[in-house]
Amino acid sequence: TDTLTMLGLESSCDDTAAAVVRRSASGAEVLASVVIGQTGLHDAFGGVVPEIAARAHAEKLDVAVRQALDDAGLTLNDMDAIAVTSGPGLIGGVLSGVMCAKGLSAATGLPLVGVNHLAGHALTPRLTDAIAYPYLMLLVSGGHCQFLIVRGPQDFTRLGGTIDDAPGEAFDKVARLLGLPQPGGPSIEREAMGANPKRFPLPRPLIDRDDCNLSFSGLKTAVLRTRDALVAEFGGLTRADRADICASFQAAVCDVLADRMRRALARYLAENPVTPCVAVAGGVAANMAIRARLEAVAADLGAQFVAPPLKLCTDNAAMIAYAGIELFEDGVRHDLTLSARPRWPL
Ligand code: KG4
Ligand code: ZN
Repeated sequence: TDTLTMLGLESSCDDTAAAVVRRSASGAEVLASVVIGQTGLHDAFGGVVPEIAARAHAEKLDVAVRQALDDAGLTLNDMDAIAVTSGPGLIGGVLSGVMCAKGLSAATGLPLVGVNHLAGHALTPRLTDAIAYPYLMLLVSGGHCQFLIVRGPQDFTRLGGTIDDAPGEAFDKVARLLGLPQPGGPSIEREAMGANPKRFPLPRPLIDRDDCNLSFSGLKTAVLRTRDALVAEFGGLTRADRADICASFQAAVCDVLADRMRRALARYLAENPVTPCVAVAGGVAANMAIRARLEAVAADLGAQFVAPPLKLCTDNAAMIAYAGIELFEDGVRHDLTLSARPRWPL
């Protein structure tokens, strides 16, 4: 057939998502994308609680699937296959998604395609901007941070990555330190707007190193010290203090990411001069200040810069359905023996 319609399921972290993506001669199109967040559920615990997340996924996956099919105006009979995140992630959530997909597959006879969550993020710029292989990808999320050369849906080369925390994790922890709501990224970006990024000198870990690795845990510790010093001296933080810490922290993350991107992109371009393209994905790529800095680096080195729309940067099932389409076209088929993998490097 010349069109392929894929149902996608995603439940590896704290978003329950279902989507329908169709590929035809004219390109790939998101027909529906439903994301049911778990904001509020984990607030009292200072982080995503795996058991609570898994229960919520198990309760909401069928709702998300129903909604996605309704939004697309289609039924399961119109699908060619079912793609599901089969790792990496919180195992209870991944299992919920895999079991739901298996149930749908058993009931309909539709083939299953297990998708790596990171591959979903990494292939998103092909869904949104139809860019050609190969390209450089900076994946920056709450759990991941790495530079990948993407050559195909099953062909990734890792140039480097974080040696400790992911940047999203650092945003979330810093927000917690400052008493700002989760997820920390959007809160900090909001606070930082109009504040003074130069007031607090924070470290730029690993900058100028001759590899493509990154580090963010020292930055988080430096923010903790800055906060404690202000509390010790003045008994607390003013609104302006808090905003300036956010701005200083965000500026440090921007500097680190821009420096590392420059190094990775130069390395990529030396070997792949024909397709000078760098794309970003993952929740942290939703940050406008970070996007602008990365875009400037790309422009400086003469590379195209692709950043998917915010909704497709953070966790969603359209990216899983789309990756499923590429894998399906590559001949990948799974059956009821598909297993859920908590760890699964690309
Ligand atoms: O990709 P994602 O939705 O989930 C995974 O980690 O796979 O990324 C979530 C992360 C969170 O840590 C959140 O704080 C961060 O992305 N994030 C942001 C922004 N929006 C979300 N970080 C910085 N600035 C933002 N605007
Ligand atoms: Zn993600």
